[in-house]
Amino acid sequence: MNINYFNSKVIFTKNIQYELSEILKNSNKKKFIILDKNTKKYCLPILNLKIDFQIIEIPEGEKNKNLKTCLQIWNFLFENNAERNSLLINLGGGLICDIGGFAASTFKRGIEFINIPTTLLSQVDASVGGKVGINYRNAKNEIGLFMSAKYILIDTKFLLTLDKRNIFSGFAEMIKHSLISNIENFNNLIEENIFKLIYEENENFLDFVYKSVKIKNFFASKDPFEKKGFRKILNFGHTIGHSIESLSMQKNRCLLHGEALMIGMICELYISHIELNFPKKILNKIVSFYLKNYKKYIIQESDFKNVFELMQNDKKKINNKIYFPLLDNIGKIKIENILEKEKIIRALRFYENI
Ligand SMILES: NC(=O)c1ccc[n+]([C@@H]2O[C@H](COP(=O)([O-])OP(=O)(O)OC[C@H]3O[C@@H](n4cnc5c(N)ncnc54)[C@H](O)[C@@H]3O)[C@@H](O)[C@H]2O)c1
Ligand SMILES: [Zn+2]
Repeated sequence: MNINYFNSKVIFTKNIQYELSEILKNSNKKKFIILDKNTKKYCLPILNLKIDFQIIEIPEGEKNKNLKTCLQIWNFLFENNAERNSLLINLGGGLICDIGGFAASTFKRGIEFINIPTTLLSQVDASVGGKVGINYRNAKNEIGLFMSAKYILIDTKFLLTLDKRNIFSGFAEMIKHSLISNIENFNNLIEENIFKLIYEENENFLDFVYKSVKIKNFFASKDPFEKKGFRKILNFGHTIGHSIESLSMQKNRCLLHGEALMIGMICELYISHIELNFPKKILNKIVSFYLKNYKKYIIQESDFKNVFELMQNDKKKINNKIYFPLLDNIGKIKIENILEKEKIIRALRFYENI
């Protein structure tokens, strides 16, 4: 099972060790692997590499997705004589794929990189689509570029060591993909016992990941540089979701990306319901799913204004207006809706009362 994205190849495999060794077997390039303490412990042994490589261990956590960590990577590459034709392997979640891809794409005007995403979120979303970057001055992914990995290797075996919060964080992106595609995808997903799938039927879960990536690929490849507006569809739930993620960072009660996205999707589906008559039954289904599987994050009335103000940093803002996608129904997307303050406050109030 493969997917081509732009000039990268996404390979879905049940044998990552074999797949990677096939790719590297005739390569005499210098190889570097970026990882963090968790992926060093849990994921590097799965690769069981028989080649020469050098490890760049970076600190985990979103607060380290910054220029300082990037400098650490550049310095290591420089001091270890990385060349233009060296290869960087990103072994980790979305953070490592983003920062590793950014460091690789800018070092000596760009060296090749391979993504081996090891969290559910990075497998279904972050590793594919060619966006790399770092956070800057508290704004997420403010510095970055569009650059695709040469290969993206996806093996669900890595998910066996992932904790519950990170599983559900990634699952939020899968739900988003199903909401913007079709009802069958949505129903297949929302009824599933995700733990049973991942822990007991791990190899079969690869097919769910494949379907999710296919949806991302469908939208991203039609608009790889986010110029035509088509890719905005992938941003469903993220306009409000990102602000809530930033709010949680400010308050030192950090939400994971997918946890904030769930809240963003509930709010944006509620606005979809009010504005476009999105079915209440489906909205209720998502709300029940959220309450059952995520710890409800409390947003106080006094923070509502703040959430709206945080949206003003949105990179998708055009002529001072924030346009965002809404849904008529599952798979029926209306792209250009203007986000007004009253709508946001109403949606946040709805969320507060679920
Ligand atoms: N480029 C994109 O298109 C895109 C899309 C979505 C998200 N992102 C970015 O991705 C990041 C979030 O990614 P994430 O959710 O993967 O978080 P993450 O990369 O921070 O990883 C979460 C945690 O899981 C640990 N971990 C990773 N793999 C593991 C494994 N197999 N077993 C046990 N622990 C493991 C990590 O060490 C970390 O502590 C954010 O920075 C976000 O901006 C990028
Ligand atoms: Zn996302």
